[in-house]
Amino acid sequence: MTDVRLELLAEKHLSSVAGMFDDEGVLRYTRVPDPVPPGWEHEWLEFYEEGRREGKREAFAVVDGDDGSFLALALAFGIDREGRQLELGYVVAPEARGRGVATRTLELLTDWAFAELDALRIELWISTSNDASKRVAANVGYRHEGTLRSFHFKQGRRDDFEIWSRLASD
Ligand SMILES: CC(C)(COP(=O)(O)OP(=O)(O)OC[C@H]1O[C@@H](n2cnc3c(N)ncnc32)[C@H](O)[C@@H]1OP(=O)(O)O)[C@@H](O)C(=O)NCCC(=O)NCCS
Repeated sequence: MTDVRLELLAEKHLSSVAGMFDDEGVLRYTRVPDPVPPGWEHEWLEFYEEGRREGKREAFAVVDGDDGSFLALALAFGIDREGRQLELGYVVAPEARGRGVATRTLELLTDWAFAELDALRIELWISTSNDASKRVAANVGYRHEGTLRSFHFKQGRRDDFEIWSRLASD
């Protein structure tokens, strides 16, 4: 499995982030707008930097542990400090898929959320048709709790979302 580490997302990662915006899976399964407006990655980083200051969101670049090359995005959002819960997300660059990067990323993110945020509950929202992401969740010990039907997630688009969770007490 590829050795990876998390770095706080910054300007230097944005060209790699933008390079994932025309991927079918990204447009289909994430809240990234479709089509992506030109330069949107800068706006998006600002949004996460604001969330970082407020303690509500965090974004990491996942990089190769050996050569530091960009592999994936790792996200935490809806951070509820008082309620000690949050949602996590991940997007792997198309050329880095199929070698365990998402699984390792979710392991690192989950450890970070339990250790740094003192979280009690972590959620993943996964489209019922996103089999790869469901495998990632299961690999990291998340449990499928149920399905939200016809949930509006962007631009008039609706999908059925499985909710997967891990608890600090699992
Ligand atoms: C989903 C995604 C993160 C998986 O990344 P990855 O690094 O290729 O995942 P991994 O290599 O850790 O593999 C995860 C598992 O999915 C399986 N898998 C990969 N592609 C698959 C597919 N099309 N259908 C079914 N299973 C698949 C792998 O075999 C592996 O299973 P295993 O661990 O049981 O052997 C990546 O495809 C992606 O970024 N997709 C677009 C964005 C997205 O969907 N993000 C998640 C939103 S919830």
